[in-house]
Amino acid sequence: MADSVLVVPGSTRAGSHNATLGAAIVERLVARGVSAQFVDLRGFPLPLFDPDLEAANGVPAAARELHDLLAEHSGLVIVTPEYNGSISTLLKNTIDWISRVDRSVLQRPVVALASASPSSNGGATGRASLRAMCDHMGVELLDRELGLARSHEVIVDGVIDDEQALAEIDGFVAAIVDALG
Ligand SMILES: Cc1cc2nc3c(=O)[nH]c(=O)nc-3n(C[C@H](O)[C@H](O)[C@H](O)COP(=O)(O)O)c2cc1C
Repeated sequence: MADSVLVVPGSTRAGSHNATLGAAIVERLVARGVSAQFVDLRGFPLPLFDPDLEAANGVPAAARELHDLLAEHSGLVIVTPEYNGSISTLLKNTIDWISRVDRSVLQRPVVALASASPSSNGGATGRASLRAMCDHMGVELLDRELGLARSHEVIVDGVIDDEQALAEIDGFVAAIVDALG
C-alpha cells in the first residue's frame, strides 16, 4: 500500500472550522510529497444508526464505500468538532456504521486526531472522548494531536491566519509524515 492519508472532518457545516483545519492538513501533507485526500461526509449520507433499520435494509452503501476507501489508505486523520464535551453526532454515527461493516478497517497504520473549536482548549475534551473510542476499537493513535483553539478568531474568511497555529499544524503534519516512515 502506497503512503496516502485520508483526512476526515466530522462536520459538514458550511464554513466548518474543522473542515478548514482538515483542508490545511491535506495541503501540508501534499506539500511534503504525501498523497492525501479530504473526505467530505456530505458525499456519504447515512441515516441515524438504528439496529432495526440495519436488520431491515442492511448496511447502507455509503458505509461500505467509506470502509473501502479507508482500506486503501495507510493513514487516517480524524478532525473532530467538540459538542458537549464529546465528538459530533455525524462522526459518531459514521464510525458506528463503518463498524457494522468491519471496525478493524479503522486500524490504519497511522491514525491521528485533530480538532478545531472556538474554546481555549481547542476541542481537547472531544479528542479525549474520540481517543477512548479508538482505544476501545483497537485503533492505535499517534501520541501527537492537534487542537486549533479559538478557531473563530484564528480562521479569517475561511483561512487560518495565525503564525502559531500554522506552526502547530506543520509540526503535526511532520509527525504524521515521520510515522508513515
Ligand atoms: C450543541 C453544541 C454544543 C457544543 N459544545 C461544545 C463543547 O463542549 N466544547 C466546545 O469547545 N465547543 C462546543 N460547541 C461549539 C462548536 O465546537 C463550534 O460550533 C464548532 O465551530 C463546530 O465545529 P465546525 O465549525 O467544524 O462545524 C458546541 C456547539 C453546539 C451547537
